[in-house]
Amino acid sequence: MKAEIPILAGNDLNMPALGFGTFQLSDETVRSILPVAFELGYRHIDTAQIYGNESSVGDAIAESGLDRQSLFVTTKVWVDQFHPDRFRGSVEQSLERLGLDQVDLLLLHWPVFDESGMNPTLEALLRARSDGLARHIGISNFNIAQMEQAVAFCGPGELATNQVEYHVYLGQQRLRRVLGRLDLMLTAYMPLAKARVVNDPVLWEIGSQYGKTSAQVALRWLVEQDRVAAIPATGNPHHARANIEIFDFALSAEDIQRIAELDKDRRYCAPDSLAPEWDD
Ligand SMILES: NC(=O)c1ccc[n+]([C@@H]2O[C@H](COP(=O)([O-])OP(=O)(O)OC[C@H]3O[C@@H](n4cnc5c(N)ncnc54)[C@H](OP(=O)(O)O)[C@@H]3O)[C@@H](O)[C@H]2O)c1
Repeated sequence: MKAEIPILAGNDLNMPALGFGTFQLSDETVRSILPVAFELGYRHIDTAQIYGNESSVGDAIAESGLDRQSLFVTTKVWVDQFHPDRFRGSVEQSLERLGLDQVDLLLLHWPVFDESGMNPTLEALLRARSDGLARHIGISNFNIAQMEQAVAFCGPGELATNQVEYHVYLGQQRLRRVLGRLDLMLTAYMPLAKARVVNDPVLWEIGSQYGKTSAQVALRWLVEQDRVAAIPATGNPHHARANIEIFDFALSAEDIQRIAELDKDRRYCAPDSLAPEWDD
């Protein structure tokens, strides 16, 4: 039976709360795992220019025979394409590789801007949407100050999400409060803390009450939160199945309390050349 994945609505976004990440998946793996993922019921796919796999994602989409409207495809513009002279061309190339006329969500991958600041790139991002290349737009890895600046420039309700690292070991409490105030969704990348959750004894104990694994508990914890989507990645069909089988149980208040007590300051993705000054 295919899983019913909740949809995050708002501003016609309709983003499935569980997506399929493709970072570090080779073309070969993408071509073999995405058909499995589609069969299991995944419809939200997360890729990026820098992942180098947009073409194989596009091949898998084309071969799936699925209605375009049933899919939610995100890609991200890499920082070397942020200049307004290059931005649109790079998005057109992404669309060509993906075999699509439009992506559902187009993100700025990291907040890396030259001396002109973020506004010219935000303007190019807004234009990509008004020209029909993207249905929705957003940002990724922006800290609170940058997020506030981006929303101030684009206007309220224009940016759909900030895609950031978020999992049971990283609280993101301040960021989440501001996201709520600014009316942006949080898309949680590295939702399994890069598989570190797998051997967590607390998550394991919680999962054993429901016949679920630690990884499933970690994902369930995310998708139970308001306006949070999670995009775990895997090249393993068994893991792909496990990661979507999280909609038939619910965490108790006590489970949530135990997860709240896990260390919440472990950030695993912080590349020196890209990362902003993170908020606590
Ligand atoms: N915006 C950004 O800057 C940014 C940064 C990082 C990631 N992302 C996005 O977020 C997605 C997810 O992040 P991520 O791939 O870095 O980390 P992740 O999803 O937290 O972890 C992926 C790892 O977990 C393993 N795994 C997956 N499901 C499992 C399961 N059920 N049981 C045990 N192990 C499991 C995978 O190995 P197997 O293949 O063996 O299952 C892989 O090693 C990326 O693919 C990408 O789309 C975005």
